[in-house]
Amino acid sequence: MYEVKDKKLILKQGSIKEGLIAVASGKGGVGKSTVTVNLATALARKGKKVGIIDADIYGFSVPRILGLQGQVIARGEKELIPPAREGIKVMSMGSFVEEDNPVVWRAPLLFSVLQQFMEEVAWGDLDYLLLDLPPGTGDMPLNIMQKLPHASLLLVTTPQLTATSVAGRVAKLAEQLQIPLLGIVENMSYFQCSNCGEREYIFGQGGGKELAEKLKTELLAELPLLPELRQSSDQGQPLLFTEADSPVGQIYLEIAEKVIERVKDFDPSIKPLF
Ligand SMILES: Nc1ncnc2c1ncn2[C@@H]1O[C@H](COP(=O)(O)OP(=O)(O)OP(=O)(O)O)[C@@H](O)[C@H]1O
Ligand SMILES: [Mg+2]
Ligand SMILES: [Zn+2]
Repeated sequence: MYEVKDKKLILKQGSIKEGLIAVASGKGGVGKSTVTVNLATALARKGKKVGIIDADIYGFSVPRILGLQGQVIARGEKELIPPAREGIKVMSMGSFVEEDNPVVWRAPLLFSVLQQFMEEVAWGDLDYLLLDLPPGTGDMPLNIMQKLPHASLLLVTTPQLTATSVAGRVAKLAEQLQIPLLGIVENMSYFQCSNCGEREYIFGQGGGKELAEKLKTELLAELPLLPELRQSSDQGQPLLFTEADSPVGQIYLEIAEKVIERVKDFDPSIKPLF
């Protein structure tokens, strides 16, 4: 799918210089896609060239959250030009099927979609390629991580045990595949009352921190449950485009900084599966 050369991942039509980051949670609905898109915009703000693969083939949502317009352009047999917003290039099933049509492909086809996204897309020279993984701890995330042994994992969880325990399982899976864990982003950590500023810990408190200790990694951020975040996702206006100075914008910029700090050089002794 790619090779490692001069500390870069060399793709068929591009390269990745700094990081291939799989965003996963295990549990669904905890904010993977929101975190993927907002982290991508934060990295772009820091001057990084960023691409996103929406690896949630059935439940794609990146185009909507990013407010992506435009289609994939096919130039020749195996050259796809990805649509982009603010320089962030995206490949998603959402660019091929209507949003309200279900994707009915079976697993083997899905894996070949990922391969196509890696090989046939003219990514150009990227600093970061982020993968928004589907929920679950089953074949899909496993297979994707297996095929991309140079990825590192960013875990997203909400504070409650039902989320952190599944996230923990994803981390174990990654560990077995020797995929390093970048850290944990706790999402929906608390709701802050807009009247008195008091924090309500709706999903419990400290779950992300506990998981980070258990996995010997860092809790990179605790993101509040914020109506504006939901709105910005629904409207396709990521906060970093409109309100980078807001407290949440700042948290995302900090996550981006920590990610930049924590990614390691690509290991040339690890060979991609194919
Ligand atoms: N911090 C937050 N505050 C408010 N709403 C949020 C926050 N994070 C995510 N949301 C909202 O919660 C919903 C689920 O988020 P998202 O789609 O990012 O989760 P996901 O983990 O990718 O879900 P899936 O497992 O279905 O792919 C979305 O409507 C999103 O806008
Ligand atoms: Mg999602
Ligand atoms: Zn109050």
